Amino acid sequence: MTSSIMAEKKQEVGRSTGPEQTASTATEPGAARQTAVASNQESLSGGAEFQWPLPPSHAQLGGHQIHVWCAGLEAPASRLAAFARTLSEHERNRAERFQFDRDRDRFIIRRGLLRQILGCYLNTDPAQVSFSYESRGKPVLAGIRDGQTLHFNLSHSHGLALFAVARQSALGIDVERIRPIPEIDQIAARFFSPYENALLDDLPKDQLPEAFFHCWTRKEAYLKATGEGIADSLPEVEVSLSPWRAAQLVSIAGDLQAAALWTLHALAPAPGFVGALAVKAKNLEALCWRWPTGEGDSDIAHGAEGLDRRTVTVVPWPASL
Ligand SMILES: CC(C)(COP(=O)(O)OP(=O)(O)OC[C@H]1O[C@@H](n2cnc3c(N)ncnc32)[C@H](O)[C@@H]1OP(=O)(O)O)[C@@H](O)C(=O)NCCC(=O)NCCS
Repeated sequence: MTSSIMAEKKQEVGRSTGPEQTASTATEPGAARQTAVASNQESLSGGAEFQWPLPPSHAQLGGHQIHVWCAGLEAPASRLAAFARTLSEHERNRAERFQFDRDRDRFIIRRGLLRQILGCYLNTDPAQVSFSYESRGKPVLAGIRDGQTLHFNLSHSHGLALFAVARQSALGIDVERIRPIPEIDQIAARFFSPYENALLDDLPKDQLPEAFFHCWTRKEAYLKATGEGIADSLPEVEVSLSPWRAAQLVSIAGDLQAAALWTLHALAPAPGFVGALAVKAKNLEALCWRWPTGEGDSDIAHGAEGLDRRTVTVVPWPASL
């Protein structure tokens, strides 16, 4: 791939593995431009503030919910080292293959956060969380009893990470910082459908970057939910992108009925960022929160860092499963 957006996705050297929307949760297109209103905000390294609140004191994941967490990927050295200690040998080897220190550190933090988040739901130490990988690199939980797994996916862009967790259905998530794309016309011509290109052509120039990333993240979220990845099928996945339309999967390889089985949620975790969550289900509620980061590095190993008196659990699966 020659375009800059594809090049940005290849920072790692020789990578091998591999609601209905609620008020504080998923948002309508255009919301990424809004300023943050929550009182208990935390800044990203670039100064942007998360739009999502901290979780309630007891966040319980039911069968009809998706929990979406946002977090920044900067951390002091002691916290970075504590996250690194929770990683597997495979993850530590991957970390060492990043060309730039900043990309390596962000990988360690997002994998450490992923382990910490999943560890809370599974009631286990982050270091004990075990992953296996599908054929195109999608990580899944290893060693969990059939029917009792947690589905999850993560995405990151420019120091911000999103993590989605659900019980019922595989899902995919993607986030991008809205930024100017010099070859926007060429990329859209190559990876977007004629329908999407026509929608883009009708928009005023100042709305193009945001609409472009709505389109990109919605397609990518779907392709991450299926585990296929973006190598082959971006043009075959057709989505809504206009600022006045809700997020929607329009067609998959021309099939409108197949697309209608899916739900897309638009996400706006911080000003200047847009994201999308794709799930093959209807009427799941997406609840969006900021992952609490505390000062206590020693708590990372036990999955309790920053959660203070808050707890994250899963509604128990029925005994018959
Ligand atoms: C998955 C993919 C879309 C991610 O692109 P990206 O925008 O750079 O990255 P994001 O931040 O959105 O997501 C990265 C995360 O997605 C997850 N992921 C990796 N591969 C995935 C896949 N095939 N499906 C869903 N999720 C995947 C991982 O958790 C990864 O995080 P990690 O780097 O900590 O492991 C891209 O890497 C891809 O298309 N991979 C497929 C590769 C492929 O086709 N391989 C075939 C050759 S065998």
